[in-house]
Amino acid sequence: MSELRAEGVANKSRGQWNSTFGFVMAAAGSAIGLGNLWKFPYLAGKNGGGAFVILYLSLIVIVGFCLVLAEMSVGRKGQSDAYGSFKKINEKCGFIGMIGVVTSFIILSYYSVIGGWILKYIGSYFAGGISGGESSNYFVSLISSPLEPLVYHLGFMMITALIVLGGVEKGIERASKFMMPTLFILLIFVGIRSVTLPGATEGIKFFLKPDFSKITMGTFIAALGQVFFSLSLGMGVMVTYGSYLKKDGNMPKDSLTIPFIDTIIAMLAGFAILPAVFALGFEPGQGPGLMFVTLPAVFDKMPWGNFFGGMFFILVFFAAVTSSISLLETSVSLVVDQFKLNRVKAVILLATVAFILGVPSSLANGILGETMIFGKNFFDLMCFLTDNILLPVGGLLLCLFVGYIWGPEEALKEITNNNKLKFKLGKLWIFGIRYIAPVMLGIVIFNCLK
Ligand code: PHE
Repeated sequence: MSELRAEGVANKSRGQWNSTFGFVMAAAGSAIGLGNLWKFPYLAGKNGGGAFVILYLSLIVIVGFCLVLAEMSVGRKGQSDAYGSFKKINEKCGFIGMIGVVTSFIILSYYSVIGGWILKYIGSYFAGGISGGESSNYFVSLISSPLEPLVYHLGFMMITALIVLGGVEKGIERASKFMMPTLFILLIFVGIRSVTLPGATEGIKFFLKPDFSKITMGTFIAALGQVFFSLSLGMGVMVTYGSYLKKDGNMPKDSLTIPFIDTIIAMLAGFAILPAVFALGFEPGQGPGLMFVTLPAVFDKMPWGNFFGGMFFILVFFAAVTSSISLLETSVSLVVDQFKLNRVKAVILLATVAFILGVPSSLANGILGETMIFGKNFFDLMCFLTDNILLPVGGLLLCLFVGYIWGPEEALKEITNNNKLKFKLGKLWIFGIRYIAPVMLGIVIFNCLK
Protein backbone atom coordinates (compact mmCIF):
# COMPACT_ATOMS: atom_id res chain seq x y z
CA MET A 1 0.00 0.00 0.00
CA SER A 2 2.70 2.43 0.99
CA GLU A 3 4.49 1.50 -2.20
CA LEU A 4 1.41 2.41 -4.16
CA ARG A 5 1.16 5.67 -2.34
CA ALA A 6 4.79 6.45 -2.98
CA GLU A 7 4.22 5.74 -6.65
CA GLY A 8 1.24 8.08 -6.64
CA VAL A 9 3.31 10.86 -5.15
CA ALA A 10 6.14 10.31 -7.59
CA ASN A 11 3.62 10.47 -10.39
CA LYS A 12 2.24 13.75 -9.28
CA SER A 13 5.63 15.32 -9.79
CA ARG A 14 6.05 13.65 -13.20
CA GLY A 15 2.60 14.64 -14.36
CA GLN A 16 -0.40 12.49 -15.17
CA TRP A 17 -3.37 12.51 -17.52
CA ASN A 18 -6.40 13.96 -15.89
CA SER A 19 -8.99 11.92 -17.79
CA THR A 20 -9.24 8.94 -20.12
CA PHE A 21 -10.70 11.20 -22.77
CA GLY A 22 -7.73 13.53 -22.46
CA PHE A 23 -5.27 10.67 -22.76
CA VAL A 24 -7.04 9.17 -25.76
CA MET A 25 -7.16 12.56 -27.48
CA ALA A 26 -3.45 13.10 -26.82
CA ALA A 27 -2.45 9.63 -28.02
CA ALA A 28 -4.74 9.82 -31.04
CA GLY A 29 -3.35 13.30 -31.60
CA SER A 30 0.12 11.84 -31.76
CA ALA A 31 -1.03 9.13 -34.13
CA ILE A 32 -3.02 11.41 -36.40
CA GLY A 33 -0.65 13.49 -38.43
CA LEU A 34 0.76 13.99 -41.86
CA GLY A 35 0.86 10.20 -42.25
CA ASN A 36 -2.94 10.11 -42.28
CA LEU A 37 -3.48 13.19 -44.36
CA TRP A 38 -0.81 13.11 -47.01
CA LYS A 39 0.29 9.52 -47.21
CA PHE A 40 -2.61 7.20 -46.58
CA PRO A 41 -5.15 8.34 -49.20
CA TYR A 42 -2.63 8.22 -51.99
CA LEU A 43 -1.02 5.00 -50.82
CA ALA A 44 -4.42 3.31 -50.80
CA GLY A 45 -5.39 4.62 -54.22
CA LYS A 46 -2.10 3.63 -55.75
CA ASN A 47 -1.86 0.17 -54.23
CA GLY A 48 -5.15 -1.50 -54.98
CA GLY A 49 -7.77 0.79 -53.38
CA GLY A 50 -10.21 -1.23 -51.30
CA ALA A 51 -7.84 -4.19 -51.35
CA PHE A 52 -5.11 -2.08 -49.74
CA VAL A 53 -7.59 -0.70 -47.23
CA ILE A 54 -8.53 -4.24 -46.18
CA LEU A 55 -4.86 -5.19 -45.85
CA TYR A 56 -4.13 -2.03 -43.89
CA LEU A 57 -7.08 -2.61 -41.57
CA SER A 58 -5.97 -6.18 -40.89
CA LEU A 59 -2.47 -4.99 -40.07
CA ILE A 60 -3.85 -2.28 -37.82
CA VAL A 61 -5.83 -4.87 -35.91
CA ILE A 62 -3.10 -7.50 -35.73
CA VAL A 63 0.12 -5.54 -35.43
CA GLY A 64 -1.02 -2.02 -34.56
CA PHE A 65 -3.23 -2.93 -31.65
CA CYS A 66 -0.68 -5.41 -30.25
CA LEU A 67 2.14 -2.91 -30.31
CA VAL A 68 0.18 0.06 -29.01
CA LEU A 69 -0.82 -2.05 -26.03
CA ALA A 70 2.71 -3.38 -25.57
CA GLU A 71 4.24 0.10 -25.61
CA MET A 72 1.67 1.56 -23.27
CA SER A 73 2.11 -1.29 -20.81
CA VAL A 74 5.90 -0.82 -20.69
CA GLY A 75 5.39 2.86 -19.89
CA ARG A 76 2.73 2.31 -17.27
CA LYS A 77 4.74 -0.42 -15.60
CA GLY A 78 7.96 1.59 -15.62
CA GLN A 79 6.32 4.93 -14.67
CA SER A 80 9.28 6.64 -16.23
CA ASP A 81 10.50 8.02 -19.57
CA ALA A 82 11.01 5.59 -22.49
CA TYR A 83 14.60 4.75 -21.52
CA GLY A 84 13.88 4.57 -17.79
CA SER A 85 10.78 2.41 -18.24
CA PHE A 86 12.58 -0.31 -20.19
CA LYS A 87 15.47 -0.13 -17.76
CA LYS A 88 13.25 -0.45 -14.73
CA ILE A 89 11.74 -3.65 -16.08
CA ASN A 90 15.10 -5.06 -17.13
CA GLU A 91 18.38 -3.43 -16.16
CA LYS A 92 20.02 -4.27 -19.50
CA CYS A 93 17.23 -3.10 -21.81
CA GLY A 94 17.25 0.67 -21.39
CA PHE A 95 18.86 0.96 -24.79
CA ILE A 96 15.62 -0.10 -26.52
CA GLY A 97 13.90 2.95 -25.11
CA MET A 98 16.93 5.05 -25.99
CA ILE A 99 16.67 4.06 -29.67
CA GLY A 100 13.06 5.21 -29.53
CA VAL A 101 13.95 8.55 -28.01
CA VAL A 102 16.64 9.18 -30.63
CA THR A 103 14.20 8.25 -33.41
CA SER A 104 11.49 10.56 -32.15
CA PHE A 105 13.97 13.39 -31.75
CA ILE A 106 15.20 13.07 -35.33
CA ILE A 107 11.64 12.92 -36.62
CA LEU A 108 10.80 16.05 -34.63
CA SER A 109 13.61 17.95 -36.35
CA TYR A 110 12.21 17.48 -39.85
CA TYR A 111 8.54 17.26 -38.89
CA SER A 112 8.84 20.82 -37.64
CA VAL A 113 10.26 21.98 -40.98
CA ILE A 114 7.10 20.67 -42.66
CA GLY A 115 5.03 22.16 -39.84
CA GLY A 116 6.59 25.49 -40.77
CA TRP A 117 5.39 25.19 -44.37
CA ILE A 118 1.87 24.58 -43.02
CA LEU A 119 2.04 27.78 -40.98
CA LYS A 120 3.05 29.70 -44.06
CA TYR A 121 0.11 28.27 -46.01
CA ILE A 122 -2.39 29.20 -43.30
CA GLY A 123 -1.03 32.74 -43.48
CA SER A 124 -1.36 32.73 -47.27
CA TYR A 125 -5.01 31.66 -47.13
CA PHE A 126 -5.79 34.39 -44.66
CA ALA A 127 -4.05 36.84 -46.95
CA GLY A 128 -6.22 35.92 -49.95
CA GLY A 129 -5.29 32.44 -51.15
CA ILE A 130 -2.83 30.87 -53.54
CA SER A 131 -3.40 31.11 -57.26
CA GLY A 132 -3.88 27.69 -58.85
CA GLY A 133 -1.53 28.16 -61.79
CA GLU A 134 1.17 29.37 -59.44
CA SER A 135 0.90 26.73 -56.74
CA SER A 136 3.89 24.72 -57.88
CA ASN A 137 6.18 27.74 -58.16
CA TYR A 138 4.84 29.06 -54.93
CA PHE A 139 5.76 25.88 -53.08
CA VAL A 140 9.16 25.41 -54.67
CA SER A 141 10.17 28.98 -54.10
CA LEU A 142 9.06 28.78 -50.47
CA ILE A 143 10.94 25.62 -49.55
CA SER A 144 14.05 26.43 -51.53
CA SER A 145 14.52 29.90 -50.14
CA PRO A 146 17.20 29.88 -47.45
CA LEU A 147 15.65 32.02 -44.76
CA GLU A 148 11.85 32.04 -44.92
CA PRO A 149 11.20 28.35 -44.18
CA LEU A 150 13.63 28.57 -41.26
CA VAL A 151 11.61 31.37 -39.73
CA TYR A 152 8.45 29.24 -39.99
CA HIS A 153 10.29 26.17 -38.73
CA LEU A 154 11.29 28.22 -35.71
CA GLY A 155 7.69 29.37 -35.29
CA PHE A 156 6.36 25.82 -35.39
CA MET A 157 8.98 24.59 -32.94
CA MET A 158 8.15 27.45 -30.57
CA ILE A 159 4.44 26.60 -30.62
CA THR A 160 5.30 22.95 -29.92
CA ALA A 161 7.61 23.98 -27.08
CA LEU A 162 5.03 26.32 -25.54
CA ILE A 163 2.45 23.54 -25.33
CA VAL A 164 4.95 21.05 -23.89
CA LEU A 165 6.07 23.68 -21.36
CA GLY A 166 2.55 23.63 -19.97
CA GLY A 167 3.12 20.04 -18.84
CA VAL A 168 1.25 16.80 -19.39
CA GLU A 169 -2.16 17.84 -18.17
CA LYS A 170 -2.26 21.59 -18.61
CA GLY A 171 -0.29 21.66 -21.85
CA ILE A 172 -0.53 18.48 -23.91
CA GLU A 173 -3.87 17.17 -22.68
CA ARG A 174 -5.61 20.52 -22.84
CA ALA A 175 -4.34 21.32 -26.34
CA SER A 176 -5.29 17.86 -27.63
CA LYS A 177 -8.77 18.00 -26.14
CA PHE A 178 -9.43 21.15 -28.10
CA MET A 179 -7.53 20.42 -31.30
CA MET A 180 -8.58 16.84 -32.03
CA PRO A 181 -12.37 17.30 -31.97
CA THR A 182 -11.98 20.52 -33.95
CA LEU A 183 -9.86 18.69 -36.52
CA PHE A 184 -12.56 16.04 -36.81
CA ILE A 185 -15.29 18.59 -37.45
CA LEU A 186 -13.21 20.50 -40.00
CA LEU A 187 -12.36 17.28 -41.81
CA ILE A 188 -16.04 16.27 -42.03
CA PHE A 189 -16.82 19.72 -43.39
CA VAL A 190 -14.12 19.59 -46.07
CA GLY A 191 -15.10 15.98 -46.81
CA ILE A 192 -18.74 16.88 -47.45
CA ARG A 193 -17.65 19.67 -49.78
CA SER A 194 -15.35 17.29 -51.61
CA VAL A 195 -17.71 14.36 -52.18
CA THR A 196 -20.54 16.63 -53.34
CA LEU A 197 -18.52 18.18 -56.16
CA PRO A 198 -19.66 17.06 -59.62
CA GLY A 199 -17.37 14.26 -60.78
CA ALA A 200 -16.33 13.27 -57.27
CA THR A 201 -17.07 9.59 -57.82
CA GLU A 202 -13.88 9.15 -59.85
CA GLY A 203 -11.90 9.99 -56.74
CA ILE A 204 -13.92 7.64 -54.57
CA LYS A 205 -13.31 4.89 -57.12
CA PHE A 206 -9.58 5.58 -57.13
CA PHE A 207 -9.56 5.42 -53.34
CA LEU A 208 -11.72 2.36 -52.72
CA LYS A 209 -12.24 0.24 -55.84
CA PRO A 210 -10.57 -3.02 -54.86
CA ASP A 211 -7.88 -4.42 -57.10
CA PHE A 212 -6.40 -7.48 -55.46
CA SER A 213 -3.82 -7.94 -58.20
CA LYS A 214 -1.93 -4.96 -56.78
CA ILE A 215 -1.33 -6.69 -53.46
CA THR A 216 2.31 -7.76 -53.60
CA MET A 217 5.19 -8.01 -51.16
CA GLY A 218 5.95 -4.36 -51.83
CA THR A 219 2.38 -3.36 -50.97
CA PHE A 220 2.51 -5.40 -47.81
CA ILE A 221 5.68 -3.65 -46.70
CA ALA A 222 4.27 -0.26 -47.57
CA ALA A 223 1.13 -1.02 -45.56
CA LEU A 224 3.08 -2.21 -42.53
CA GLY A 225 5.38 0.81 -42.66
CA GLN A 226 2.31 3.02 -42.79
CA VAL A 227 0.78 1.27 -39.76
CA PHE A 228 3.96 1.98 -37.82
CA PHE A 229 4.40 5.57 -38.80
CA SER A 230 0.74 6.36 -38.48
CA LEU A 231 0.39 4.90 -34.99
CA SER A 232 3.63 6.57 -33.81
CA LEU A 233 5.02 3.14 -32.93
CA GLY A 234 8.57 2.05 -32.26
CA MET A 235 9.80 5.40 -31.04
CA GLY A 236 9.03 5.61 -27.38
CA VAL A 237 6.08 7.94 -27.79
CA MET A 238 3.42 5.51 -26.62
CA VAL A 239 5.72 4.34 -23.81
CA THR A 240 6.06 7.92 -22.64
CA TYR A 241 2.34 8.67 -22.92
CA GLY A 242 1.57 5.35 -21.21
CA SER A 243 3.79 6.32 -18.30
CA TYR A 244 1.46 9.19 -17.47
CA LEU A 245 -1.53 6.85 -17.11
CA LYS A 246 -3.12 6.20 -13.77
CA LYS A 247 -2.75 2.65 -12.57
CA ASP A 248 -6.49 1.92 -12.57
CA GLY A 249 -7.33 2.72 -16.21
CA ASN A 250 -8.50 0.37 -18.93
CA MET A 251 -5.50 -0.02 -21.25
CA PRO A 252 -6.93 -2.75 -23.51
CA LYS A 253 -9.86 -0.52 -24.35
CA ASP A 254 -7.69 2.54 -24.96
CA SER A 255 -5.35 0.57 -27.18
CA LEU A 256 -8.30 -0.37 -29.38
CA THR A 257 -9.75 3.11 -29.43
CA ILE A 258 -6.57 4.86 -30.54
CA PRO A 259 -5.94 2.84 -33.74
CA PHE A 260 -9.67 3.00 -34.43
CA ILE A 261 -9.75 6.81 -34.35
CA ASP A 262 -6.51 6.99 -36.32
CA THR A 263 -7.97 4.81 -39.05
CA ILE A 264 -11.26 6.70 -39.20
CA ILE A 265 -9.32 9.92 -39.75
CA ALA A 266 -7.16 8.34 -42.45
CA MET A 267 -10.31 7.15 -44.24
CA LEU A 268 -11.98 10.54 -43.87
CA ALA A 269 -8.85 12.16 -45.29
CA GLY A 270 -9.25 9.96 -48.34
CA PHE A 271 -12.82 11.20 -48.78
CA ALA A 272 -11.83 14.80 -48.17
CA ILE A 273 -8.92 14.87 -50.59
CA LEU A 274 -9.25 12.43 -53.50
CA PRO A 275 -12.79 13.22 -54.75
CA ALA A 276 -11.93 16.92 -54.92
CA VAL A 277 -8.66 16.24 -56.73
CA PHE A 278 -10.40 14.16 -59.41
CA ALA A 279 -13.52 16.32 -59.65
CA LEU A 280 -11.43 19.35 -60.53
CA GLY A 281 -9.36 17.52 -63.07
CA PHE A 282 -6.10 16.83 -61.25
CA GLU A 283 -4.02 13.73 -60.66
CA PRO A 284 -3.23 12.80 -57.08
CA GLY A 285 0.39 12.44 -55.98
CA GLN A 286 1.95 11.52 -52.67
CA GLY A 287 3.40 13.57 -49.88
CA PRO A 288 4.33 17.23 -50.02
CA GLY A 289 3.34 17.55 -53.69
CA LEU A 290 -0.23 16.46 -52.99
CA MET A 291 -0.70 18.70 -50.02
CA PHE A 292 1.21 21.80 -50.98
CA VAL A 293 0.86 21.88 -54.76
CA THR A 294 -2.16 19.89 -55.95
CA LEU A 295 -4.56 20.82 -53.17
CA PRO A 296 -4.03 24.59 -53.44
CA ALA A 297 -4.76 24.27 -57.16
CA VAL A 298 -7.90 22.29 -56.30
CA PHE A 299 -9.05 24.88 -53.77
CA ASP A 300 -8.42 27.64 -56.27
CA LYS A 301 -10.94 26.10 -58.67
CA MET A 302 -13.50 25.28 -56.01
CA PRO A 303 -16.38 27.57 -55.03
CA TRP A 304 -15.45 29.13 -51.68
CA GLY A 305 -12.02 27.62 -52.24
CA ASN A 306 -10.08 30.06 -50.08
CA PHE A 307 -12.36 29.42 -47.17
CA PHE A 308 -12.06 25.65 -47.50
CA GLY A 309 -8.33 25.91 -48.16
CA GLY A 310 -7.81 27.95 -45.00
CA MET A 311 -9.87 25.50 -42.98
CA PHE A 312 -8.01 22.57 -44.44
CA PHE A 313 -4.59 23.91 -43.54
CA ILE A 314 -5.74 24.73 -40.02
CA LEU A 315 -6.78 21.13 -39.57
CA VAL A 316 -3.48 19.94 -40.99
CA PHE A 317 -1.75 22.22 -38.52
CA PHE A 318 -3.68 20.72 -35.59
CA ALA A 319 -2.78 17.23 -36.80
CA ALA A 320 0.88 18.12 -37.11
CA VAL A 321 1.21 19.98 -33.82
CA THR A 322 -0.42 17.25 -31.73
CA SER A 323 2.14 14.88 -33.25
CA SER A 324 5.12 17.15 -32.72
CA ILE A 325 4.27 17.71 -29.05
CA SER A 326 4.38 13.94 -28.51
CA LEU A 327 7.77 13.79 -30.20
CA LEU A 328 9.19 16.58 -28.07
CA GLU A 329 7.62 15.23 -24.88
CA THR A 330 9.38 11.90 -25.41
CA SER A 331 12.82 13.49 -25.10
CA VAL A 332 11.75 16.04 -22.49
CA SER A 333 10.52 13.23 -20.32
CA LEU A 334 13.89 11.48 -20.63
CA VAL A 335 15.89 14.54 -19.67
CA VAL A 336 13.59 15.42 -16.77
CA ASP A 337 13.49 11.88 -15.36
CA GLN A 338 17.10 10.87 -15.96
CA PHE A 339 19.02 14.11 -15.52
CA LYS A 340 16.61 15.77 -13.12
CA LEU A 341 16.60 18.93 -15.17
CA ASN A 342 13.47 21.00 -14.63
CA ARG A 343 10.85 20.94 -17.35
CA VAL A 344 11.33 24.53 -18.50
CA LYS A 345 15.06 24.11 -19.03
CA ALA A 346 14.60 20.70 -20.66
CA VAL A 347 12.02 22.02 -23.12
CA ILE A 348 14.08 25.06 -24.09
CA LEU A 349 17.24 23.01 -24.49
CA LEU A 350 15.69 20.20 -26.54
CA ALA A 351 13.52 22.40 -28.72
CA THR A 352 16.60 24.47 -29.55
CA VAL A 353 18.69 21.43 -30.46
CA ALA A 354 15.84 19.94 -32.53
CA PHE A 355 15.46 23.28 -34.30
CA ILE A 356 19.16 23.33 -35.15
CA LEU A 357 19.08 19.73 -36.36
CA GLY A 358 16.16 20.69 -38.60
CA VAL A 359 18.12 23.51 -40.27
CA PRO A 360 20.07 21.29 -42.73
CA SER A 361 16.82 19.42 -43.49
CA SER A 362 15.21 22.70 -44.43
CA LEU A 363 18.20 23.88 -46.47
CA ALA A 364 18.33 20.52 -48.27
CA ASN A 365 15.36 21.71 -50.31
CA GLY A 366 17.40 24.66 -51.54
CA ILE A 367 21.02 25.62 -51.16
CA LEU A 368 22.09 22.28 -49.71
CA GLY A 369 20.16 20.37 -52.37
CA GLU A 370 23.30 19.13 -54.03
CA THR A 371 25.04 18.05 -50.84
CA MET A 372 24.63 14.30 -50.76
CA ILE A 373 25.32 11.89 -47.93
CA PHE A 374 25.03 8.21 -48.93
CA GLY A 375 23.43 9.41 -52.14
CA LYS A 376 20.66 11.31 -50.38
CA ASN A 377 20.18 14.92 -49.38
CA PHE A 378 20.00 15.60 -45.65
CA PHE A 379 16.20 15.73 -45.50
CA ASP A 380 15.77 12.43 -47.35
CA LEU A 381 18.54 10.85 -45.35
CA MET A 382 16.81 11.69 -42.06
CA CYS A 383 13.48 10.34 -43.34
CA PHE A 384 15.13 7.17 -44.60
CA LEU A 385 17.00 6.62 -41.37
CA THR A 386 13.89 6.93 -39.22
CA ASP A 387 11.20 5.34 -41.43
CA ASN A 388 13.19 2.50 -42.93
CA ILE A 389 15.69 1.60 -40.24
CA LEU A 390 15.09 2.95 -36.75
CA LEU A 391 11.31 2.45 -36.64
CA PRO A 392 11.20 -1.21 -37.68
CA VAL A 393 14.24 -2.05 -35.56
CA GLY A 394 12.73 -0.27 -32.54
CA GLY A 395 9.44 -2.10 -33.14
CA LEU A 396 11.11 -5.48 -33.41
CA LEU A 397 13.12 -4.94 -30.23
CA LEU A 398 9.94 -3.92 -28.44
CA CYS A 399 8.19 -7.15 -29.48
CA LEU A 400 11.12 -9.27 -28.42
CA PHE A 401 11.36 -7.41 -25.15
CA VAL A 402 7.70 -7.79 -24.21
CA GLY A 403 7.33 -11.24 -25.74
CA TYR A 404 10.44 -12.87 -24.33
CA ILE A 405 12.33 -10.76 -21.80
CA TRP A 406 9.70 -9.09 -19.67
CA GLY A 407 7.34 -11.92 -20.65
CA PRO A 408 3.73 -11.65 -21.76
CA GLU A 409 2.36 -13.07 -18.50
CA GLU A 410 4.01 -10.31 -16.51
CA ALA A 411 2.91 -7.75 -19.09
CA LEU A 412 -0.66 -9.07 -18.86
CA LYS A 413 -0.63 -8.45 -15.12
CA GLU A 414 0.08 -4.79 -15.83
CA ILE A 415 -2.47 -4.67 -18.65
CA THR A 416 -5.28 -6.19 -16.60
CA ASN A 417 -4.49 -4.19 -13.46
CA ASN A 418 -3.43 -7.39 -11.69
CA ASN A 419 -6.23 -9.50 -13.12
CA LYS A 420 -8.90 -7.05 -12.08
CA LEU A 421 -9.87 -6.36 -15.71
CA LYS A 422 -11.21 -8.94 -18.13
CA PHE A 423 -9.12 -8.98 -21.29
CA LYS A 424 -10.67 -11.45 -23.70
CA LEU A 425 -8.08 -10.89 -26.39
CA GLY A 426 -5.21 -11.71 -24.03
CA LYS A 427 -4.20 -14.98 -25.71
CA LEU A 428 -4.39 -13.45 -29.14
CA TRP A 429 -2.32 -10.50 -27.99
CA ILE A 430 0.40 -12.82 -26.69
CA PHE A 431 0.46 -14.68 -29.98
CA GLY A 432 0.66 -11.41 -31.88
CA ILE A 433 3.46 -9.97 -29.83
CA ARG A 434 5.55 -13.15 -29.70
CA TYR A 435 5.14 -14.44 -33.23
CA ILE A 436 3.15 -12.45 -35.76
CA ALA A 437 4.53 -8.94 -35.22
CA PRO A 438 8.22 -9.96 -34.96
CA VAL A 439 8.02 -12.08 -38.10
CA MET A 440 6.39 -9.26 -40.03
CA LEU A 441 8.93 -6.74 -38.80
CA GLY A 442 11.72 -9.13 -39.61
CA ILE A 443 10.47 -9.30 -43.20
CA VAL A 444 10.40 -5.51 -43.42
CA ILE A 445 13.93 -5.15 -42.07
CA PHE A 446 15.21 -7.90 -44.30
CA ASN A 447 13.70 -6.20 -47.33
CA CYS A 448 15.22 -2.84 -46.39
CA LEU A 449 18.66 -4.39 -46.15
CA LYS A 450 18.39 -6.23 -49.44
N1 PHE B 1 1.88 9.37 -36.43
C1 PHE B 1 2.21 10.61 -37.06
C2 PHE B 1 1.57 10.72 -38.42
O1 PHE B 1 0.76 9.93 -38.80
C3 PHE B 1 3.64 10.82 -37.22
C4 PHE B 1 4.41 10.65 -36.00
C5 PHE B 1 5.39 9.78 -35.97
C6 PHE B 1 4.07 11.33 -34.86
C7 PHE B 1 6.05 9.58 -34.83
C8 PHE B 1 4.73 11.12 -33.71
C9 PHE B 1 5.72 10.21 -33.68
O2 PHE B 1 1.87 11.61 -39.14
